[in-house]
Order: sequence, then C-alpha cells, then structure tokens
Amino acid sequence: MAISSSFPFLPFCLLLWAFTVYANGCYTSIISFGDSLADTGNLKQLVAKSNGRPPHFMYPPYGETFFHNPTGRCSNGRLIIDFLAENLGMSLIPPYESVKSSMEVIEKGQGVNFAVAGATALDSAFHEAQGVYNAYTNASLNVQLGWFKRSLPAICGNPSDCKNWIKKSLILMGEIGGNDYNHPVIAGKSLEELKSYVPLELIELGAETLVVPGNLPIGCSAAYLTIYYGAQKDEYDNATGCLIKLNKFAECHNELLQTELNRIRELHPNVNVIYADYYNAAMQFFQSPEKYGFTNGALTACCGGGGPYNYNRSVACGYPLSTSCSQPETYANWDGLHLTEAAYQVIYKSLFQGTYTTPRFNSVCPTSMVQAKDASSSSVQSF
Ligand SMILES: *[C@@H]1O[C@H](CO)[C@@H](O)[C@H](O)[C@H]1NC(C)=O
Ligand SMILES: *[C@@H]1O[C@H](CO)[C@@H](O)[C@H](O)[C@H]1NC(C)=O
Ligand SMILES: *[C@@H]1O[C@H](CO)[C@@H](O)[C@H](O)[C@H]1NC(C)=O
Repeated sequence: MAISSSFPFLPFCLLLWAFTVYANGCYTSIISFGDSLADTGNLKQLVAKSNGRPPHFMYPPYGETFFHNPTGRCSNGRLIIDFLAENLGMSLIPPYESVKSSMEVIEKGQGVNFAVAGATALDSAFHEAQGVYNAYTNASLNVQLGWFKRSLPAICGNPSDCKNWIKKSLILMGEIGGNDYNHPVIAGKSLEELKSYVPLELIELGAETLVVPGNLPIGCSAAYLTIYYGAQKDEYDNATGCLIKLNKFAECHNELLQTELNRIRELHPNVNVIYADYYNAAMQFFQSPEKYGFTNGALTACCGGGGPYNYNRSVACGYPLSTSCSQPETYANWDGLHLTEAAYQVIYKSLFQGTYTTPRFNSVCPTSMVQAKDASSSSVQSF
C-alpha cells in the first residue's frame, strides 16, 4: 500500500486492481512480445507510417473468417493471444503501434502487444553481419523490449507503480526465434540464451508470470515442405508427412530453451516461468488432422500460389495470382508459414486449458495475487 499520493493515475489503478481480482482471477493485463504468430497489427502500422509497400498479409483474404478484413494478423482470424485475451475476459490486446500516441492502453488497462511480424529474436545487426537482411522489420526482441521500457511512464507512472502493474500482468514471450533460422547453426545457442536473458530483464522490472513458447514443428510447415520437396522418402515421418530432420531441429531448440528456463526458475523461485509446448500441442493435429476437423489435411496451405502444398514463395497468399480455399476451418495451414484460426484455437486450448504447459497454466497465479486473494475482500476495500 506504499503508493505515493502524488501518483496521478491512482484512482484508476485502484479500480483496475479491484476489477482484476474478481473478473480475471490472476491477471490484469497481457504484455506480449514476438513475431507474426502474435502480431495483432504492429507491422501493418509501421508499414503505413513509412509508406512502405504493404506485405501480402495486408490484403484479403487475411482476416476473412473473424475480423472480415485484414488486421495485420497473419491468419484468417484470431491468433493464440486473441483466444487467451477473450478467455481471460479481456478485450483484444491492442498493438503498441496503434496506441502509443494516445496511450489508449491506459484507459483499457489491459496490456499491450509489442510483437511484430517478421521480427527476429536476435538483433538485425547480428543477422546483417551474416549477410542476412530482413525486408520486413528490424524490431527484434531487444527493440520491442526497448519500446516497452520507454512506454512505461505513460502506461503506469513511476517505477514502483509500474512494478505493480507488471507483476499482475501475464507476459507472453513469443513465439519468437522462428525468423532467426536463416543461419540456424550460428543462431543456435545464442538464440536460446537471449530468450532467457530478456525474461530476466522483465523479472527485474517486476514480472511474476512469463509464458515462454518453444518452436512449432517447422518440418510440418508447407513452406519448408515445398523448399525441400522431393527429399528421400525416409526423410519424411510416416505418420505425419513432416520432415524429420527439421522437426528434430525444433525439438533440439526446445530442449535448449527449457534448460535456460530451468536456470531462471532456480534464480527466481517466486516467479512463474511457464514453458508453452507449441511443438507437441500442434503435433496433435499433424498426427490426426481429421480428429480436429482438418479434413483437407494439416500440411497443405488453404491460401497460396499452387504447388504440392499450395505454397509458392513468389505467389504469396493475398497477392493477385494466389487462390484461397472456401473452408479454412478444414485446413491447419493458412498460408504456408502460418496456421489457420482453427489450428491456433487447438493450440490455445491445449496450452491454456489443457496440459501442454509446464507448469500447468491454470495451476499458477502471481505470488502477489495469491497473497492479495488470501487477504480476503476487505483488503480490496481498504486499498
Ligand atoms: C530500425 O529501422 C528504423 C526505420 O528504418 C530506424 O529508424 C531505426 O533506427 C532502426 N533501429 C535499429 C535498432 O536498427
Ligand atoms: C515407414 O514406412 C516404411 C514403409 O512402409 C517402413 O519401411 C519404415 O520402417 C517406416 N518408418 C518408420 C520410421 O516407421
Ligand atoms: C511459382 O510461381 C511462379 C509464378 O507463377 C512460377 O513461375 C513458378 O514455376 C512457381 N514455382 C513452383 C515451384 O511452382
């Protein structure tokens, strides 16, 4: 209760605090970092501001199923973060780029999304030194973290009030890293180390609950299946049709990541560091697509430029020569690189309502929230 009386947003924050404990259980807000798996509109805004050429996912049929227009999300509808926000009783998490001037987030109080499609975990300087230039964005994980830190005074005021806000937030750290694999060998270890360094910084700022996703089974992606089309028969997993070597690569990264997360847990036993097993959550529908309604299989893209997996790099979904399926809910793969809303929903449920996080998502609450709840409702009124 040591909130300075000079803090200008005090009455509002009190309201928020009381609201959360009763409506959402554990969290007042979601703070998200990542790439196209979580971008809800940042790259769209950034491109508009720079008068750049709009990427293919700014055109229909992106967004057709849920939003009925392209929002900047790389899917036909909602992403994992959208399902999460809905189910925690929040409105959809606004992209940083569309709230940063008005800081509408202060009124909404429900967090902010820094994820940018195309973003890498490692800085662009690192990739440029390897001769890899990112055509989409240089908003790496560190750049996103910088935006977050700089926006804190506007969002939550002084450091101690910010600490309180961050404490009660659910922090989604990705997925990020999928775009770093242009030079997989080089990116390998430094990538997973970075993915643990950023959580440590967030913990310094007060974070008590972090969800850190691992990689998806990239060997099941229509884009990679197309690039390696015609590989030896024994390079494919019989049960799924996915490329074994690439999936092993993703699994290996996930092992490294979990080792790093264990290190953080040892350093900060009071912080909930939740590993989100995207790989095995998605593997369910790659193994039994029909069971999830993916009657057109889990490998072929709904929207794309033709070819065995309906993926052609030069005819991306959204561009004139591409075609799109009429029933996206019968596909797991949306555009070759990204999944359909239906597939993201399966992953969402498996993670946040199921057993594919460690520890289970529903079994944890920020330490400070547990204490607040234990102290009974009278402490809310006396606040
Ligand atoms: C990223 O790109 C923007 C726009 O081109 C530029 O203003 C900014 O300085 C760059 N940031 C970094 C970290 O390279
Ligand atoms: C895949 O199927 C082939 C032929 O049906 C079989 O010879 C091979 O052992 C199988 N591989 C695996 C990993 O099950
Ligand atoms: C991709 O599309 C281009 C343009 O239509 C075409 O020339 C090319 O052959 C296609 N590539 C594949 C692998 O189908």
